[in-house]
Amino acid sequence: MAVRREEGRTTVDRYPGRVRVNHWVTAISLILLALSGAALFHPSLFFLSGLFGGGSNTRALHPWIGVVLLASFAILFVQMVRYNFWTKADTKWMSHIGEAMSGREENLPEVGKYNGAQKIVFWLMTLLILVLFGTGIMIWYEYFGASFTIEQQRVGHILHALAAVAMLLVVIIHIYAGFYVRGTISAMTEGKVTGGWAFRHHRLWLRQEAREGVIDERQVPPRHHGVGPAE
Ligand code: HEM
Ligand code: HEM
Repeated sequence: MAVRREEGRTTVDRYPGRVRVNHWVTAISLILLALSGAALFHPSLFFLSGLFGGGSNTRALHPWIGVVLLASFAILFVQMVRYNFWTKADTKWMSHIGEAMSGREENLPEVGKYNGAQKIVFWLMTLLILVLFGTGIMIWYEYFGASFTIEQQRVGHILHALAAVAMLLVVIIHIYAGFYVRGTISAMTEGKVTGGWAFRHHRLWLRQEAREGVIDERQVPPRHHGVGPAE
């Protein structure tokens, strides 16, 4: 991770390639699970099973894609959990979230790698993936049909469907925020953000990164800069 001076602008490394690749595996698995789950959920959505080679293939594939989601999210969790512990500053930030949404960030505390809302999203995703996996196992008849009573499987179906709806809401908010806050998407596509974005939204994190030194891509020997509103 580093702050870099490139031609006329400052950029900050946000995610290395391995984190980005894993994030996109998680994102694609979740989209495939939502589509295949919807096909299994209601006859009016059954046409979606065409994407997976018909009804029985959809039924067979869906839980295995769930296993891929669990594995990739477990990796993502290990990569990101240390930045997601709650602090007093997060409580303060959340109490001013309206101002953050309307771009008035003067009264907000400085934010580390993630803000309070991102941390809540992270922990909700973690909880919901565990519930989806646990209840998914309960209704995976092919392998676990004999391990649960019919009554337990009924409860499993209801909880699985409810958790699926909650997960979709959380992911929609996550995707919306990624596009709403200008300059965020490049974090997950190119792995870097502008100095201005980092200064505005995650100043504490930028200060920490800058303390480790600034790499000057124009071949000037590295210098230690103070942090200012660079672009
Ligand atoms: C097409 C769908 C998705 C898009 C466009 C997207 C976009 C992004 C972007 C731009 C970031 C960087 C945010 C930052 O560094 O401040 C990010 C981070 C993250 N993404 Fe996604 N994402 C998608 C799907 C998912 C899914 C399905 C999950 C999990 C199930 C997920 C979990 C995360 C987590 C935990 C982070 C780090 C913390 C955060 O920003 O909340 N993403 N995503
Ligand atoms: C995390 C791992 C997951 C596993 C192991 C899993 C497993 C399963 C299984 C075995 C079924 C029953 C299929 C059948 O009728 O034979 C099912 C149904 C379903 N899944 Fe998943 N699933 C997972 C994740 C998800 C996710 C992330 C979503 C959506 C966001 C989802 C949405 C659904 C829906 C809507 C149904 C139909 C529910 C019903 O008929 O009661 N699943 N899943």
